[in-house]
Amino acid sequence: MTFERIGVVGLGIMGAGIVEVFAKAGLQVIGVAESESAVEQGKKNLATSLDRAVSREKITQVQADEISSRVTWGTDFELFAECDLVVEAAPEIIGLKQQIFSELDRVVKPEGILASNTSSLSVTAIAQSTDRPEQVVGMHFFNPAPVQKFVEVISTEKSHADIVAAVTELARSIGKSPATVGDKPGFIVNKLLLTYLNHAVRLLDEGVASRETIDSAMREIAKFPMGPLELLDLIGLDTSVEVLHTIFADTQDPLDAPASSLTTLIADGHKGRKTGAGFYDYSNKHEAPTSADDDLKIQVHETLMKAYLHTARQMNDSGYASKSDIDMGMKLGCGLPEGPFETMSHFVA
Ligand code: 3HC
Repeated sequence: MTFERIGVVGLGIMGAGIVEVFAKAGLQVIGVAESESAVEQGKKNLATSLDRAVSREKITQVQADEISSRVTWGTDFELFAECDLVVEAAPEIIGLKQQIFSELDRVVKPEGILASNTSSLSVTAIAQSTDRPEQVVGMHFFNPAPVQKFVEVISTEKSHADIVAAVTELARSIGKSPATVGDKPGFIVNKLLLTYLNHAVRLLDEGVASRETIDSAMREIAKFPMGPLELLDLIGLDTSVEVLHTIFADTQDPLDAPASSLTTLIADGHKGRKTGAGFYDYSNKHEAPTSADDDLKIQVHETLMKAYLHTARQMNDSGYASKSDIDMGMKLGCGLPEGPFETMSHFVA
């Protein structure tokens, strides 16, 4: 199987990031969104990311122009006709994804592979809307897609082993570190990550600590690159809630139901960075949160870390994923300095 032409549906931050990853790797990319304005936003997202790379001297302006020239943009799914692979990065709404896959099934050449970048929806349910479920997989990237190296390649009962192997090899060839995963709620990283992030919101809701104390505790003591509330803003509160609904539907554990500020903020139109506000306001440059309450930071870190390590252990015990895949996922998908099983070897509460 060769991959020369890749399609991407949905051009938000994640979709545009996926466009960038493939175009940087030298592939021809077709980016499609539902409207001209969404296409313009996708172009802008790519340009901002490339400008950042040029200003940091990661690539030259000539390379940035070459990357941009490999991308064709549009609103018409027919543009995908000759694609070897199409990756869907639309919002987390099962009906919408099924509609997109049914349309992709109609327009993409018969041997083309269809992949969803879903954060937690059932890839099996998405594949059911096509007549080629054996050629449907999940290809799950992490924010920001050009930075995070981890990719989950999700196979369903119907996915053909050769297709899964080819997509895994493709991920490797574009510089990512893939792991193959079954179609389980939250896959590897989101199951562990969102359970931890939701726990942090509960601490905020219960008045245990301020947002700054919670975030600085995990930045400063755990050395995570971002605090949990800032990270929720980056992921998007709506996406985060959708992942939690999927996890909760599986576990029925009240602790996995979305914590109340998540739903309140969304109801007020605050979905995180993409709407300009979430737990924090992004109208000005966002600085790393600080707090002088050292004792409380220690307490918050202990509480969150203990529960996070417990979830990781449970995931491994129940056969969700291997220790090494969980560690790799958290390090290469979320930029953590070490994986939970490495942390366990020295964490003392
Ligand atoms: N697009 C492209 N590149 C970006 C970027 C963006 N939006 N943001 C940062 N970068 C690059 C920078 O250019 C820089 O690259 P360099 O090291 O090669 O120069 C590097 O990332 C570091 O950037 P900064 O120095 O500006 O900022 P930080 O050091 O604070 O890092 C971060 C920013 C990479 C976002 C880091 O804070 C991080 O890794 N945070 C954790 C993010 C995370 O957990 N992501 C996974 C979320 S779960 C998910 O996405 C799955 C979904 O299904 C929910």
